[in-house]
Amino acid sequence: MLFLALESSCDETAAAVFTDEPRVLSNVVASQTALHSRFGGVVPEVAARAHLRQILPVVDEALRRANVGIRDIGCIAVHNTPGLVGALLVGVSAAKGFALALGVPLIGVNHVHAHIYAGRLAAGRDIFPCVGMVVSGGHTALFDCPDAVTYQLLGTTRDDAAGEAFDKVASILGLGFPGGPAVDRIAATGNPKAIRFPRSYLEADTFDFSFSGLKTSVLYNVQGQDRNNPQPLPTGQQLADVAASFQEAVVEVLVKRCEQALTKTKRPRLAVGGGVSANRRLREALTDMCKRRGVELFIPPLEYCTDNAAMAALAVELFRRGQFADDDLDAVPYLT
Ligand code: KG4
Ligand code: ZN
Repeated sequence: MLFLALESSCDETAAAVFTDEPRVLSNVVASQTALHSRFGGVVPEVAARAHLRQILPVVDEALRRANVGIRDIGCIAVHNTPGLVGALLVGVSAAKGFALALGVPLIGVNHVHAHIYAGRLAAGRDIFPCVGMVVSGGHTALFDCPDAVTYQLLGTTRDDAAGEAFDKVASILGLGFPGGPAVDRIAATGNPKAIRFPRSYLEADTFDFSFSGLKTSVLYNVQGQDRNNPQPLPTGQQLADVAASFQEAVVEVLVKRCEQALTKTKRPRLAVGGGVSANRRLREALTDMCKRRGVELFIPPLEYCTDNAAMAALAVELFRRGQFADDDLDAVPYLT
């Protein structure tokens, strides 16, 4: 059976067609990055309007690349939570329309859970039970995942998401938006020990994260204490050292939290998803930690790390368990 899945939670309009194996037949993503970059971040109303323009052409393209017609689709899946509510509503409304018109079931998929399921999709084999971590522009969350449809939240960020911290620090350093890839690139030539930025581990009994203090610390390091008379922006080696030292602080906290979760849950596998999992230093540090502990690590290729609709193949597992959505499926902005 074939599934058509839609994604519109933030600033990518995406559609995918996959089989019930699941095997991906097409994965189309229309990025809005260019639209938002002049504002230095995603503007919710601009995102929702762009989704409206893009959603049907993206679905057409996904069907064309999969070489199937809309009547071949047996189930519609949509990321209905979490995300920007106006953006989510575009995908949810379109998905309801398709399901109703075709007379096929509708499945609501949690976008953050789907980021972890992307590891299963890319591996082509079962990865559960595992610890799952999602690190993206909107979310930083750690889960215990006993099976493919159960995601027990262990901890989440109390302020900025990891990707948000990368984007804000990139903005402080004058590197543009989105800043994660730029910081990653520049950090490669920097000394990660040049500046000891703070690591926020919060209380001993929590798996929560906090990155806003780190961001402020970078701001003061770069601009100095006098806001009316800021220091000139660092360049060359100095810039690379700030980027590498900041990145190291984020990576250290993320890896340590994963390690704590692996110890607590005793899971033999770790699955990491979301845009920040593209970060080379994070991948390297996670690989080292997992090797040391004898844990199997799953990080999908880039196309399944950043926002996409193929990872909604989690719907295949929900379908098998009869977990369908009602006609009143809603867009829920917060992570539940
Ligand atoms: O998952 P994603 O595509 O969208 C959200 O759901 O947010 O993640 C985007 C985030 C952005 O904050 C971006 O700066 C960050 O992922 N990112 C990176 C890298 N590539 C993307 N952060 C650090 N290093 C990278 N190489
Ligand atoms: Zn995402």
